[in-house]
Amino acid sequence: MKNVSIEFEKIRNQAKTLINQAQNLTTLETIRVDLLGRKGKLADLMVVLKDLSIEEKRTLGPLANQVKTELEELFQQKKNNLFNDSLRQEEEHYAGFDVTAYKTGHKKGSLHPYTQLTQKNIAIFTSLGFKISDGPEIETEFYNFEALNIPESHPARDMQDTFWIDVPGMLLRTHTSTVQIHTMQEGNLPIAVITPGRVYRQEATDASHDFMFQQLEGLVIDKNISMSHLLGTLKTWLHLIFNRNDLSLRIRPGYFPFVEPGIEVDVTCPFCTSGCSTCKKTGWIEMGGAGLIHPNVLKAGGINPEIYRGFAFGFGMTRLAMLIYGINDIRLLHSNDKEFLKQF
Ligand code: PHE
Repeated sequence: MKNVSIEFEKIRNQAKTLINQAQNLTTLETIRVDLLGRKGKLADLMVVLKDLSIEEKRTLGPLANQVKTELEELFQQKKNNLFNDSLRQEEEHYAGFDVTAYKTGHKKGSLHPYTQLTQKNIAIFTSLGFKISDGPEIETEFYNFEALNIPESHPARDMQDTFWIDVPGMLLRTHTSTVQIHTMQEGNLPIAVITPGRVYRQEATDASHDFMFQQLEGLVIDKNISMSHLLGTLKTWLHLIFNRNDLSLRIRPGYFPFVEPGIEVDVTCPFCTSGCSTCKKTGWIEMGGAGLIHPNVLKAGGINPEIYRGFAFGFGMTRLAMLIYGINDIRLLHSNDKEFLKQF
């Protein structure tokens, strides 16, 4: 019996020393398993207890339990201490780390030409009292065609080669004019909005065509809107976007089922006076289509054409970005080539 109680004392002392010395949680756990684990030293000793007399068990039993609880408490205490120490060390490690620190010489990013142009357009049009409107790029036939006065059998559906989606009646929008209807349906009148956004057409890719490009849609609806409001707005935009007052607009009749009358808008070539390769020696650059909203479109948008009128325009922003930033291949504009983008 003496021997067994000495053994308990031994384990108690050994454990105390080992626990004191443990430097980290992993070592501590190994020690714990070795002493207090199911197959540990203390458990071995408990087995010996079973073969002792009742008398002996009476004194040694409580001793065994006392040693066990004592050691468990010691382990827990040490575990807490080690855990707090590691937290403190981590805090000290990061104390000198300033996430807001700025070091000179770091490489700076730049905004994509599209983003720059969009921001300019937004600044110009919001200064004229326009709001920004948005709509989905995955659309229904209704918003892309039907509501825009392009019924199913209408040949104008072929003007824009559409990407159809596997879901019947769904497509990738071929123009931002879809947002005209979404905006009208919101029901707030009068309306003056622009929509910058991506559009998709099934076209073979070359230096000046891609299956995705960007447009800028404009929509104004009020009681007495006329062609002169449209032309005045476009002229103001033209002077502000190029920051030049000497550029003019030219309009030609144009057919778009959602406007009547419809026009094609050209602007004086900003790069030459007598014809260059950009304007193909014509002195004019095509900007896009525009016109007064067709009554059927107002109706589709839930607006009474007897009371309200409006104008809309849809300009090619991809082409404009290429002109303004001197990009001669659309594929560069749409690639994520950092060396190319660094220039802007
Ligand atoms: N949505 C037409 C296109 O993509 C452009 C346009 C917009 C024409 C608004 C007239 C009015 O070609």
